[in-house]
Amino acid sequence: MKKIIITIDGWSACGKSTLAKQMAKALGYLYIDSGAMYRAITLYFLRNHVDWTHTREVEKAMENINLQFVFNPVSKSTEIYLNDENVEYVIRDLVIAEKVSDVAAIKEVRDFAVKQQRKMGKDKGIVMDGRDIGTVVFPRAELKIFMTADNSVRVGRRFKELIVKNPNLTIEEVKTNLEMRDYIDSNRKVSPLKKAKDALLLDNTNLTEKEQFEMAMNWANEKINTSA
Ligand code: DC
Repeated sequence: MKKIIITIDGWSACGKSTLAKQMAKALGYLYIDSGAMYRAITLYFLRNHVDWTHTREVEKAMENINLQFVFNPVSKSTEIYLNDENVEYVIRDLVIAEKVSDVAAIKEVRDFAVKQQRKMGKDKGIVMDGRDIGTVVFPRAELKIFMTADNSVRVGRRFKELIVKNPNLTIEEVKTNLEMRDYIDSNRKVSPLKKAKDALLLDNTNLTEKEQFEMAMNWANEKINTSA
């Protein structure tokens, strides 16, 4: 069976990773969460007090960062390792979410991440989600999906996810963080979030997970059957 590249871009907390994981599992493809790379780099910068407003400091720090995705048979998904430490869960903290958009806007950081992302897609058979995957990382991907959902729906979903770990969190904090990230991510100079011209729009405001999965799998199967 012909393997393709599937890219899923869109706003924060639209459910990109949920859909990407389900599609990768159904197709037997590799799932890569590109946002996890920017989050892990942010974690490294914070832990090591890297002043990311200085290019030379960023360049020096990047030399000491090794990122790897490892499949976890228990969670049945790939998890990110920063210098051999599993950081898949710690990078989901709001502390990281508050800084990650600034770090992801740095050219040197993006060059580092994009180079590795392209390498991971060289044999195709990959579902990657992020902000610039269909526009910059794999502009020739066979299937590009751009996801969106109403703001209130996205805030509610992310709040439900984070409150489990942080019972003091308020819905206002989550809303402010999502709005700030969406603004920075879509207005930065380097590779801003935007819908690729040939991306298919998936608005899941009124869709169940099952409905959105079926819709996306129909698109994927069509592309797999028609791509040369
Ligand atoms: O998908 P996420 O929320 O885990 O992504 C975290 C941040 O990383 C997001 O605010 C923007 C940035 N990001 C990016 O700039 N490019 C990507 N391909 C993926 C994420």
